[in-house]
Amino acid sequence: MSLRLGDTAPDFTAETTEGKIEFYNWLGSSWGILFSHPADYTPVCTTELGTVAKLQDEFKKRNVKTIALSVDPLESHFSWIKDINETQKTIVNFPIIADPVFEVAKLYDMIHPNASDKFTVRSVFIIGTDKKVKLILTYPASTGRNFDEILRVIDSLQLTANYSVATPANWKDGDDVVIAPTIKDEDIAAKFPKGHTRIKPYLRTTPQPNK
Ligand code: BEZ
Repeated sequence: MSLRLGDTAPDFTAETTEGKIEFYNWLGSSWGILFSHPADYTPVCTTELGTVAKLQDEFKKRNVKTIALSVDPLESHFSWIKDINETQKTIVNFPIIADPVFEVAKLYDMIHPNASDKFTVRSVFIIGTDKKVKLILTYPASTGRNFDEILRVIDSLQLTANYSVATPANWKDGDDVVIAPTIKDEDIAAKFPKGHTRIKPYLRTTPQPNK
């Protein structure tokens, strides 16, 4: 059975480039991003891991820990990291899981046999502090992911977890948000003191409440 939004993210123990990790313990009270790669020493993956390394300050600001997965063995990861650091001008500063027998890959349904039965697809799981799955993305091997988009989703998830709002298309941190349909017109002024615009009865916007 594949994982769906709202499901509890499976816990696991795995060998990683930063030692053995028990996933839940390692996450602690952080949000988590678990993302898989088809294989070591592949060009797109090299750029993705470099990008995530360079974005670590942005993830930390948001209380998010990142962990990558590739089905290649640990020794391969260690040598590949040297190439990533060299070519992407960074330092890989987060763990990469070695999953040679597809233990974690199967748990998270990262093998899509009609794409490849040997490699994981590019999966992304965003996991909340409650260990529930908040977002699932699946990309093909040929398309590198946009990690700015993943940061944008984190901003939306963390905002909407705390306020009765949702974020419109192409929203980014600081833009106006939409007021949740569950909020009655008469309650808006008290809940959103920065003001609001009533475009339609079901489409009401307000400045981002936590800015
Ligand atoms: C890559 O990461 O570059 C890649 C991996 C598998 C197939 C195609 C590209």
